[in-house]
Amino acid sequence: MTPLLRQVLSQVDGPDPRLNELVRALVTHLHAFVEETRPTPEEWLAGLDFLIETGKMCTPDRNEFILLSDMLGLTSAVDDVNNAGPENMTPSSVEGPFHSPAPAREPGAWISFGPERERGVPTVVHGRVLDCDGTPLPGAVVDLWQANDTGLYDTQDDTQDSGNLRGLFTADADGRYWFRTIRPSSYPVPTDGTGGRLLHAIGRHPMRPAHLHYRVTAAGHRSLTTHLFLAGDPYLDSDAAYAVKDELICHPRERTEGWEMDGPYEEIEFDLKLVPLDGKEGQ
Ligand code: BEZ
Ligand code: FE
Repeated sequence: MTPLLRQVLSQVDGPDPRLNELVRALVTHLHAFVEETRPTPEEWLAGLDFLIETGKMCTPDRNEFILLSDMLGLTSAVDDVNNAGPENMTPSSVEGPFHSPAPAREPGAWISFGPERERGVPTVVHGRVLDCDGTPLPGAVVDLWQANDTGLYDTQDDTQDSGNLRGLFTADADGRYWFRTIRPSSYPVPTDGTGGRLLHAIGRHPMRPAHLHYRVTAAGHRSLTTHLFLAGDPYLDSDAAYAVKDELICHPRERTEGWEMDGPYEEIEFDLKLVPLDGKEGQ
């Protein structure tokens, strides 16, 4: 440890021990970064300017710092250390910036109401909400959100009605849920800010593989925020938000009848297994 770092650390001594721990570790890692990379003063100021610009882009509707955290895999890393659990749980995955309150819908309802419904592949998504041991969780609430076929959420797009491609579904007595939608498409994260500039500078594309977002809540269980991804998507191995986990990849099946559909459609089955809050997590 350098004398300078020792001096800085010795002066971190506030009333909150956890905050002291976080600040000491952060300062230690940043000093190690400086030792390792030896930035010039100009490079250091360019980094600070980048952060200032990032802050200026933030509004109540857009947080460019969260996007940077997503794009550097940090949001996923924080998710991993906080939401680990038994092997048979459904893995969690990042929430992303586009969750907003969804309307409650009846089982089987369509969640697509715009022109994307004519353009997209009709799709039925169904599954069960279960405890990790396989017990159904009736009354669980499944909150879903999805971008349209041009990659925009209703909250980003004035041409979509509020609540389009969103829905709150309540699991039935067997823990089952189902709804109708269009097949999700891959889409780019917003690239018109510092996040996009960073991606470009480091030679990364901005694409996210096609996905549906889930937030599932059930009494007595840890709530689960996760994604459903589609097998075969070209961006599964290079998600701009590093949110893909093998257990979340589903295989759509082509169908011609059933599930109250007229004409060909795709069927996707996705069960969600939640961790009980009663201390059984480790079993
Ligand atoms: C999303 O899927 O909505 C998302 C997640 C992380 C960063 C940007 C978008
Ligand atoms: Fe998304």
